[in-house]
Amino acid sequence: MNNFHEWLSQKQAFVESLLEKRLPQANHEIPLNEAIRYSVLNGGKRMRSLLVLATAEILETPLIAIENIICALEFAHAYSLVHDDMPCMDNDDLRRGKLSCHKKFGESTALLVGDSLQSIAFSCLSSPSLQVNPDNQLKMIHTFSNAIGIEGMAKGQALDIANTNKKISLEELKKMHQYKTGALINAACLMTVLASNSYDKNTLNTIDTYSKLIGLMFQIQDDILDKEAANQEILGKTPGKDEKDNKSTFVSLLGISKSKELAAQYYEEALATLKPFGDKAYYLAGMAELMMTRSH
Ligand code: IPE
Ligand code: IPE
Ligand code: MG
Ligand code: MG
Ligand code: MG
Repeated sequence: MNNFHEWLSQKQAFVESLLEKRLPQANHEIPLNEAIRYSVLNGGKRMRSLLVLATAEILETPLIAIENIICALEFAHAYSLVHDDMPCMDNDDLRRGKLSCHKKFGESTALLVGDSLQSIAFSCLSSPSLQVNPDNQLKMIHTFSNAIGIEGMAKGQALDIANTNKKISLEELKKMHQYKTGALINAACLMTVLASNSYDKNTLNTIDTYSKLIGLMFQIQDDILDKEAANQEILGKTPGKDEKDNKSTFVSLLGISKSKELAAQYYEEALATLKPFGDKAYYLAGMAELMMTRSH
């Protein structure tokens, strides 16, 4: 298939139906399962999943491994959003155009949704049926653990809080964004390479560089959209929230036009890293463009 938009709609449908199937059914005794389903199946863009599928286009990764990597990523990502919106964090009422999880189900359920999604994510990655050699499967789990914990997303979120109401340097800001958002995007691509069983070191290094560049670019765009989104309906989140809360962002540090220049620079650098893959990188290049030009 050589049409990016056709590929995209086919893969998006695949991801939605996969997530739907893999989530626990609602349980009428407690609201937890319903809240878990609500938080995952509420219209995310599925960028991390699409990156897995685009990376898999250059390698031979078993489908069962791809499916479990996608579930682990989307579950961990949804968990991070549920906690990010809670009153003790960003205190946001809106997520993906709907009430955020704690607004709909209460704070204690939102906390437990995050706990549960994190553990289900590890259950997916550690499944014995992945068709990945055990050494590589361990490397995948290790990569993922680091990416969401104190060497990744959780550290980035802690830095985000520590850097609120504070002027920080560009280097510190980049570091914060690399941890809070870049690490999971990086892990999405690296895990797909590790699961391919026959990858070589050069491929792993190139994908590592590409995904770090687009991860940073993605969070710069997130900061720009917070400021520039046409309206709440398109953004699906509360626009202007970063400025109101005095967050350290690319926009607050560099202004809009310098932030756009920097995002464009990372985009170009990411495309350049893909050169050795030739035509096989068509979908990875398309993903970089999609992540750069998104409106929400
Ligand atoms: C939002 O991520 C939070 C960040 C890490 C920037 P996405 O923009 O991927 O959110 P969804 O999944 O599409 O809602
Ligand atoms: C959140 O960054 C990154 C996460 C790890 C969840 P933001 O706080 O900027 O994300 P949004 O704008 O609320 O989606
Ligand atoms: Mg936040
Ligand atoms: Mg937030
Ligand atoms: Mg944001």
